[in-house]
Amino acid sequence: MANQPRPWRSVWEQALYGDDGFFRRSRPAAHFRTSAHVALFAEAVAELARRTSAGTVVDLGAGGGELLIALHQHLPGVRLVGVELAPRPAALPHEIAWETALPGRIDGLLIANEWLDNVPCDVVEVDPAGVVRQVLVDPSTGDEQLGDPYADPWLDGWWPLTEPGQRAEVGAVRDAAWADAAARVTGTAVAIDYGHRRDDRPPFGSLRSYRDGREVDVVPDGSRDVTADVAVDSVALAAGATVLRQRDALTRLGVDGARPPLDLAGTDPAAYVRALSRSGEAGELLARGGLGDFWWIITDTTGHGTLGA
Ligand SMILES: C[S@@+](CC[C@H](N)C(=O)[O-])C[C@H]1O[C@@H](n2cnc3c(N)ncnc32)[C@H](O)[C@@H]1O
Repeated sequence: MANQPRPWRSVWEQALYGDDGFFRRSRPAAHFRTSAHVALFAEAVAELARRTSAGTVVDLGAGGGELLIALHQHLPGVRLVGVELAPRPAALPHEIAWETALPGRIDGLLIANEWLDNVPCDVVEVDPAGVVRQVLVDPSTGDEQLGDPYADPWLDGWWPLTEPGQRAEVGAVRDAAWADAAARVTGTAVAIDYGHRRDDRPPFGSLRSYRDGREVDVVPDGSRDVTADVAVDSVALAAGATVLRQRDALTRLGVDGARPPLDLAGTDPAAYVRALSRSGEAGELLARGGLGDFWWIITDTTGHGTLGA
């Protein structure tokens, strides 16, 4: 019975967050690299916290706490809170709080890097007769079959499907999740993720799996990540947010990919090596076709205009 095909959303939820789920047992950094694993990213987030006078920074989906540990160096006196279903990392400084649920109110900055793409949603496909149907999946094999006809106003408005074979991940649950999170914030809320807008939705959906640093077959058996790109325009509307690319957001926060002048190598070799390493990190965070293409979904209640977005 447990391995009978069931709707994607419940199978996905179990695979990632069930008692033995992927993210309960393993840290994201063991399987894939995110911006939070790049030191310069924390400097930019710290700059955002300073510009918005944030007294608290909450990291939703904090993974192994990498971002918070780095922020601890940059933001003395600022309260840091990780919200994460996985256990508290052993290396986390004791001043950093670690919770399993978002606080009711956040006065400061809420950041959620690569969290929304792991919020499970329904998956649908148009059958040969042109009917949109729920996709069911066998958790142990990833084999799929089509279930009942499926209708949701979200699909009509944000991801209309017309041709047999077309698929979508139904983003309504993500819109609600981020709207709920952002509504708790007095200050600034930023969700950062890979995603698409109405004019560039992937026609066959975007479900993917990662394990041990590489993309693998999509099987929701708890042995691997299951992710799908975020419909960033609908999330933004639900949360009263604006969207911009990570490369633009980080540039506005002072991240600069320029290489250091070569003469520095002669006058101060150590400074040159440090500057070269920063420029390499900036290049990774700003890259087209890479992390620079990610979207920042920004809700700002401070009236500061945050990034001029
Ligand atoms: C892709 S990882 C990103 C980790 C980290 N933010 C980074 O960028 O490296 C997503 C994380 O979100 C966590 N997560 C998902 N849903 C959550 C929830 N409702 N509450 C707390 N953490 C959650 C998962 O356990 C996982 O560690």
